[in-house]
Amino acid sequence: MGLHTSAAILGRRAIRKYKPDQVPDEVLREILAEARWAPSATNTQSTNVYAVSGEPLERFKAELRQYAESEVEPKPDFPPGTGLPPALMARQQALFQARASFIAAEEAKMGIRPADPPVSPTVAGAAVFGAPTLLVLTFEEGVSDAYGCFDAGLFSMAVCLAAQSRGLGTCIAGGVARNAELLHKLLPGTDKHKILITIAIGYPDNDAPVNRFPRTRLAVDDFVTFVR
Ligand SMILES: Cc1cc2nc3c(=O)[nH]c(=O)nc-3n(C[C@H](O)[C@H](O)[C@H](O)COP(=O)(O)O)c2cc1C
Repeated sequence: MGLHTSAAILGRRAIRKYKPDQVPDEVLREILAEARWAPSATNTQSTNVYAVSGEPLERFKAELRQYAESEVEPKPDFPPGTGLPPALMARQQALFQARASFIAAEEAKMGIRPADPPVSPTVAGAAVFGAPTLLVLTFEEGVSDAYGCFDAGLFSMAVCLAAQSRGLGTCIAGGVARNAELLHKLLPGTDKHKILITIAIGYPDNDAPVNRFPRTRLAVDDFVTFVR
């Protein structure tokens, strides 16, 4: 059904601005029913999904915004790394720069002035890109971090592609889980779960510059070592 896999992989991109339209429950269920066929270690299917929308999502966004405005220290369930290696840091910077300069140029063409004073990225991030639904992925304590993360990663890509083939957009977003306590409070039965990641999902605003900036990838020979 839908797009050929390669076309879906190449056609997908992170969507960071959504139309306000809700995702019908049956469409969401269809996507999740397809994504459950992602592989998992010994078929443990360790990934739990919370699909948050409507009033609970608005409440969460308001709380996240409040935390961002008061600069509450991030406390995710998974500790941050000990520092990106310089080459990876450079790729991260390249993404931020390419995105910001493309958006500034496009918005200038559209007659949109930059916000004054500028909104901090953390405060802007609390709006969760205006997505109508937020999927929150967790796994239970006792599952190894390696396999729990791996299973959820595979599941996430399956969600992104299943959404893509139905004309929906997604953005995997770790930043939204930066204050894990807010999600534990919102999501029932997560005392013994680790909150790993979120995925925004909805109908993409394809005109928005943030959804159109050019992205890059390494050449195959820059990250693959053929050992023959
Ligand atoms: C683990 C993970 C965490 C991410 N967290 C965020 C995030 O917090 N905010 C965001 O805007 N994008 C986030 N992204 C999206 C990446 O920035 C995006 O996938 C990357 O720049 C490649 O662009 P593309 O998805 O459009 O191909 C995340 C992606 C992954 C896989």
